[in-house]
Amino acid sequence: MYRLTAEQKNRVRALLGEMTLDEKIGQMNQESVSIVGGFDVPFEELIEMMTDGRITQEEFEKIMSTAQQDYHEDDIRAGLVGSLMVQDPRKCNELQKIAVEESRLGIPLMFGLDVIHGYRTVYPIAIAEAGAFDPDLFTRTARMAAKESRTQGVNWHFAPMLDVARDARWGRVSEGPGEDPYLVSQFAKTKIKGLQGDMSSTENYVAACLKHYVAYGACESGRDYNTVSMAPSMLHNSYLPPFKAAVEAGAATVMASFNDLNGVPCTVNPYTLRHILKESWKFPGFVVSDANAIRECVNHGIAATEPDAGTQAANAGMDVDMGTQIYKKHLKAAVESGEVPMSVIDEAAERILSVKMWLGLFDRPYVPEEAMDRYEVLPEEHRALAREAAEKAIVLLKNEGDILPLKKSQKISLVGQLAASREEIIGAWAMSWRESDCVSIKEGLERAGAELKYFPCCGPETEINRDDVEAACQYGDVIVAVVGETDAMSGEAASRADITLPGRQRELLGKLLASGKPVVACLMNGRPLALKWEAEHVPAILECWHLGVEMGPAVANVLLGGKNPEGRLASSFPAVTGMCPIYYNHMNTGRPGGRSKFTSRFMDAGFEPLYPFGYGLSYTSFTYSDLTVEDAGDELRAAVRVTNTGGREGVETVQLYMQDVTASIVRPVKELRGFTKVKLAPGETKSVTLTLKKADMGFYNDAGEYVTESGLFRIHAGGSSRDCLTAEVTVNF
Ligand code: NOJ
Repeated sequence: MYRLTAEQKNRVRALLGEMTLDEKIGQMNQESVSIVGGFDVPFEELIEMMTDGRITQEEFEKIMSTAQQDYHEDDIRAGLVGSLMVQDPRKCNELQKIAVEESRLGIPLMFGLDVIHGYRTVYPIAIAEAGAFDPDLFTRTARMAAKESRTQGVNWHFAPMLDVARDARWGRVSEGPGEDPYLVSQFAKTKIKGLQGDMSSTENYVAACLKHYVAYGACESGRDYNTVSMAPSMLHNSYLPPFKAAVEAGAATVMASFNDLNGVPCTVNPYTLRHILKESWKFPGFVVSDANAIRECVNHGIAATEPDAGTQAANAGMDVDMGTQIYKKHLKAAVESGEVPMSVIDEAAERILSVKMWLGLFDRPYVPEEAMDRYEVLPEEHRALAREAAEKAIVLLKNEGDILPLKKSQKISLVGQLAASREEIIGAWAMSWRESDCVSIKEGLERAGAELKYFPCCGPETEINRDDVEAACQYGDVIVAVVGETDAMSGEAASRADITLPGRQRELLGKLLASGKPVVACLMNGRPLALKWEAEHVPAILECWHLGVEMGPAVANVLLGGKNPEGRLASSFPAVTGMCPIYYNHMNTGRPGGRSKFTSRFMDAGFEPLYPFGYGLSYTSFTYSDLTVEDAGDELRAAVRVTNTGGREGVETVQLYMQDVTASIVRPVKELRGFTKVKLAPGETKSVTLTLKKADMGFYNDAGEYVTESGLFRIHAGGSSRDCLTAEVTVNF
């Protein structure tokens, strides 16, 4: 929990009293390590050359590796830098030494990094991990990432990413915990606990950074960085709750998003930054812009010049400028001319110093030498946690004829370039992993003793090798095809207008199916895919996402039946791309989707997702019965009986949804309000009770006020957002 003691507050205030205006603005300046010299073109042009394909990423990286880096030592010495992005612990210590020992006031630096799903130990991408519906797991993986990164000097994580995302075309759906505000809020709270909660030693916690504030996940048509237009009620009911939950859980920092919201970029948005975050929620930490975002306000067309953008950002409540030097260059003049009040600078500096004080940086600014190599070899308990997370995240989408689990006696033709890759299992936004730590699916199956032969055949970006396909169809009793996306196909700047299997992989599946042998599709991907064809033709489909360093053993264990799958979808899968955005908690409309033509539906795709939120099969089966809802004063108690009707032990995720049937504004058809996991032996029945606080049954209206309205509610309990029992109850507030 981010909170300062009285003594720490006094130390911050005393320090503030000694600072010059330049030094205060210095704290508001986050520097990027810039590249100097050696090129015929400016650095920005070089990036453009890579992005528009004039040079390859490999060529770009080669140039970068030989380039000289500018760590802004002189500015650090002059007290003009507050934070940087660096992840070499010795470099961090070297720069920290300049800040602490050579600058006038000795204020330490913060070192930030995108640690989105693990540091050295990479665990599943967030959309996958969220599908484990396991808050305790969310905490444990975050705690592990905090500890590992702190040994490398990184004390500030640009995570968790809390963008509710409902359009799978957006590449960044991979980085966040899905489409549902309640699940995302649970993820938010538990991640803060993991990142910030263990303050027994400064080696155990980091400052979290909630991003991207706010509504970035609703960017129009899923195109990255795009505009967002949204009613206040939708903003408050669906997009703000995870941030509010994380602020209440004590998050230390927040990052504003790139997008404009109803015409005002979130970088310079006083309504979201000052009014909601700082005044209404009383957020005590600091806000950082996204990279280059203050400068981009000129492109948005909301600022005429860079100084104008800086002035607007500071006045809106943006405490730290990530990477543009606009604050550094222009804020002093803006204060002197009266455009930016001195109180804005004082407030920002106090917020930033307070986070540094809470992190313990004033007392222990350096990474201890003995900590630096602590994770040189990944400890087995870290791998075990990564494996647990990976296994729990795998979702069984289809299993016709009980093809899965495979039998040990079956010979496997393992197909697909992704199956043998150690790099692609990592997923978007992992920056500190080592190839030697990664176990591919092929290696996982081999280690598990499966009898297999490997045939690359085809990858997301390559042609089909016909000889390989022929041999694969000949060899195995069963064909396991690993198909999907490379990790570069999701994450930032990776929107796709067509979210079917990329390249020729569908055609590959067709050829494998033509052999007449059973085919299992193992999907490796960073977003929901449009799988209409696959769902119609492939008998078994396992959604494996990008699961991190232990992907191989986890997938092997599920395929071979050592682990009964229990993962669920945190995001609905459309049948075809044109259904995006698609999510279970939509409004009803006046003509709810149905069979009739004149209902809210697509002529060629219906209205329901192919696989809805909360969905996931098991190697056993569960049934629900006897849903009852009891009014217990301040809360409702929903009880339901769940029975394992199959032949093996399994874990079921019991989900509780509500619907406010009639209200003063239209409300979603279902909203998740609780979940729990139960383990059931074959034939066993358990009664599961989930409670719903009446105070949580309200909603925000368009004035941004939270209201509860008495009347009829539907309560649904079941194993997915689609398959539920329903009870009705009248609630009086
Ligand atoms: C841009 C991304 O939008 C954000 O998520 C990230 O934290 C920053 N760059 C810093 O890398």
